[in-house]
Amino acid sequence: MIFRSVIMCLMLAAAMSSIATEAIDGAAIYKQNCAACHGLNREGGVGVNLADKVWLKVKPEKDDLVKFINQGSVAAGMPAWQSVLDKEKIAAVAEFLLNPAATNLVATNSASKADPYPELKKLILPAGFSISVYTDQVENARAMVVAPSGVVFVASRTTGKVFAVIDSNKDYVVDKVITVAEGLDSPIGVTYINGALFISERFRVVRIDNIEKTYTKHPVFKVVKDDFPQDKWHGEKIIKAGPDGKLYIPIGAPCNVCDKESEPFAKIYRMNPDGSDFEVYAKGIRNSVGFAWEPTTKELWFTDNNRDLMGDNMPSCELNHAPKAGMHFGFPYCHSGVVLDPEFGKDRSCNEFIPPAANLGPHVAPLGLAFYEGSQFPEQYKNQLFVAEHGSWNRTQKIGYRVELITMFNNQVVSDTPFIEGFVHGDEVLGRPVDVAFLADGSMLVSDDYLGRLYRVTYTAPKKI
Ligand code: HEC
Repeated sequence: MIFRSVIMCLMLAAAMSSIATEAIDGAAIYKQNCAACHGLNREGGVGVNLADKVWLKVKPEKDDLVKFINQGSVAAGMPAWQSVLDKEKIAAVAEFLLNPAATNLVATNSASKADPYPELKKLILPAGFSISVYTDQVENARAMVVAPSGVVFVASRTTGKVFAVIDSNKDYVVDKVITVAEGLDSPIGVTYINGALFISERFRVVRIDNIEKTYTKHPVFKVVKDDFPQDKWHGEKIIKAGPDGKLYIPIGAPCNVCDKESEPFAKIYRMNPDGSDFEVYAKGIRNSVGFAWEPTTKELWFTDNNRDLMGDNMPSCELNHAPKAGMHFGFPYCHSGVVLDPEFGKDRSCNEFIPPAANLGPHVAPLGLAFYEGSQFPEQYKNQLFVAEHGSWNRTQKIGYRVELITMFNNQVVSDTPFIEGFVHGDEVLGRPVDVAFLADGSMLVSDDYLGRLYRVTYTAPKKI
């Protein structure tokens, strides 16, 4: 537990360091990264006293000190800083230790001592996992896509923008957020194929070619497709590149519940990246806001948000599995595999339709989902599925507001358990998870449109004692 909170402090400290980037202030870097162990006035704590001029491990010379800080003394509990802080910062903190100039950090800097994100302490993750704020500069953050360079593109619905989120010195703290496109109509989806960024607006899909080279320069976009139905209800669309190189996109039902089977609604489509060969992939889907393909089978899994106004506890939102084209998932006749619709379900049977792979709970509003393919998390997470639940808007007791872990075995769902909980406490909301993505180091990003943040989740194996 102590270990976990130290890690948490480190992560918070790392997040804080983005605030003071310009002039490199060794004292500030010390306070953000080292004080948790060595004490605010270098008096020692978990780490040794650095104020008494009794150097035990290293010569009091800059080069040696830099080398030691870079490499740490990991077995004894002193982290290696070379992957966390860049050269300039390590040099600055070494200078500070050699010549602290009697800086009393408590007296001079007590205001910035305050934890900028105290609410993170209310979030609950499994042992060994920590959560930090990757950036808090992405208003209304929705879908994310991580480009090969590590830049994260984030759709922002209410601002009508797409942001590029950049960690240029790879210290896992975002240093820049750039607006790539603006003036868009409720863009909630972004995806990437062969150097191009695709953005899905309410009634249009656009693409920016060569995005990694152009995102800083207000790039122009081309329209891929703009002949979608103009209905606003469930008109917002996500978009995802499938393993077949096609773009997958939904057209939601333009209602709470209605039978538009003979029209383009309540279906998932796919098309080529140039907009050609637009075709139905799956049917009977009220409003899907998340697609993911299982890494070994390459089969589609998607979330569906079920109808409202049948009470607090039904029907359940769905996780569905569509291994092939043409399957029908029941809407508007049968909800969550078992509940016939009071109006449209007459003379129908739920057996006619493909049941959900899992019922995720009523009104939880599952949005983005992603399979874990990285290697930072323990082996048991490999190829398992994470689902962001945005949370209920019309249920007496709020539900959802979490990231769930869906454990699978042989292509079937075994269990649905909380992975990040605590974004809701009674009526108090601390965040609304929208999408899940992974950085190249295997850490997880979670977008939150409520506070306009991306969170980063990392795993550190507990130390053997
Ligand atoms: C998680 C706790 C922790 C953090 C954070 C930490 N240290 Fe340490 N540090 C230690 C421990 C424990 C030792 C003793 C290592 C040993 O005995 O080998 C140590 C030793 C040192 C020493 C050697 C002191 C000597 O007398 O030889 C220096 C210098 C040092 N740390 C600098 C830093 C700097 C600079 C930072 C921040 C960038 C930092 N430490 C952050 C735990 C920490």
